Amino acid sequence: MKVIHVSVECFPVAKVGGLADVVGALPRYQRKFGISSEVVCPYYITPFTKEHDFEVIFEGAFRQGGDQIPFTVLKEKSDVLGFPINLVHIPNILDREKVYCYPDEAEQWIAFQLAFLTWLRSLAKYPEVVHCHDHHVGLIPFLMKWTSEFRSLALIKSVITVHNTQSQGCLNWDKSALLPEFERWKSGLLDWDGVINPLASAIKCCDAFTTVSPGYFSELQQRANGLESLFRLESLKGFGILNGIDEHYWNPSSDPLIFKNYSRSSVTSGKKANKKSLCEKESLYTMPHLLAYIGRFVEEKGADLLPEIIEELFASPSNNLCVYILGSGNEVIEDRLEVLLAKYPKRLAVFFGYDEGLAHEVYAAADLLLMPSKVEPCGLNQLYAMKYGAIPVVRGTGGLWDTVTDVDRSIDGSGFVFRDSQPSDAVNAIRRALNTIGNADKVKTLRNRGMSLDFSWDKPANEYIDLYRQITN
Ligand code: GLC
Repeated sequence: MKVIHVSVECFPVAKVGGLADVVGALPRYQRKFGISSEVVCPYYITPFTKEHDFEVIFEGAFRQGGDQIPFTVLKEKSDVLGFPINLVHIPNILDREKVYCYPDEAEQWIAFQLAFLTWLRSLAKYPEVVHCHDHHVGLIPFLMKWTSEFRSLALIKSVITVHNTQSQGCLNWDKSALLPEFERWKSGLLDWDGVINPLASAIKCCDAFTTVSPGYFSELQQRANGLESLFRLESLKGFGILNGIDEHYWNPSSDPLIFKNYSRSSVTSGKKANKKSLCEKESLYTMPHLLAYIGRFVEEKGADLLPEIIEELFASPSNNLCVYILGSGNEVIEDRLEVLLAKYPKRLAVFFGYDEGLAHEVYAAADLLLMPSKVEPCGLNQLYAMKYGAIPVVRGTGGLWDTVTDVDRSIDGSGFVFRDSQPSDAVNAIRRALNTIGNADKVKTLRNRGMSLDFSWDKPANEYIDLYRQITN
């Protein structure tokens, strides 16, 4: 069976968030289980495209209005990712340095989808399944099924994975001029609340949809940024499949990006060495405990709570705690953190931005990883943290509920879970965590437990394969 994943992010081609990690790993695991899985994503100007060699596998043009827009499809030559990676190159439309935040985003993603389908139509053998990720490529199921331009693709099955519903890619109806012709009575398959909504359209037109955790699947029926009734209506073709992590890449015993490698048996000394190295580099006190936050500074991730949480924690003299933050985003949050940095230069360090290598160092060094998310469709950071022996302190929502069990509520708990989104809830959970990890035996047990949990892609990769089989039979 052949499956093509379509996404605007894929690690290491271009990464902004967890979407890239999923698309950059899942196809490799599917291939391990006999599925011929590959990825199509835009050609950006990133270190990956600069450093690798590509061959042109298609040259053509897609039609838009009266125009023909030329594009090429480039395939990476050395199979560096362990699956074929095909990049759609549309001069002046996709070949940019960033993935998001351009004013013509609607045109960008529509062009990508039309170019992809034009290339797909040219293939001698069609895949059985096109697997779309998030709203940026959410028009594909509609375009394949309901436009005369792409009618030849109508029998290919489509799956959409919902990684997040916060942004849905809505477009005013005047943008329909950018789409190939379709019968007007099909407009309802694109529309949600008077606008073209690519995510809603994908849910309506796909053969199956998935969410990145079972917890998020249930949650979406109650809270989905306006799409809850659609998720309820279409729930019979929906499945919650928990994300995995790439255990070859995220492995403290072989990770080349961390100061000292360690395994379960050497976790105590290994983490101590990594913590010392990071704290010295950042001129932090080498306090007994290091709490980390890694992620975008957006409200959804609870980043707006960070300044108050830090103030409250540092106000208590009994806390032997330093905090490391890696992320960027909302300027108000950044400014508030700057103020705290000046106030607590030896206890707080912030790296404004994202650096993949540094993220690995932080997981290896941290004792606790905080995720105060208001919404978390799956969350990968808590999984990376557990693999690196850092104990997660999380707000119980979506995938965090599914992956972290509270130590005080279960004998095989793996972390600390709080229910509400007030800074004090997070602080109480962190205090509970600090009490526990103050005990050398308890912390060792907890670290070992987290490190031995199986979060590999093996199981989810097979769940996706079962789903493909179900819809193609
Ligand atoms: C999005 C979600 C996150 C999830 C990731 C990968 O970034 O916000 O929870 O882990 O996608 O599916």
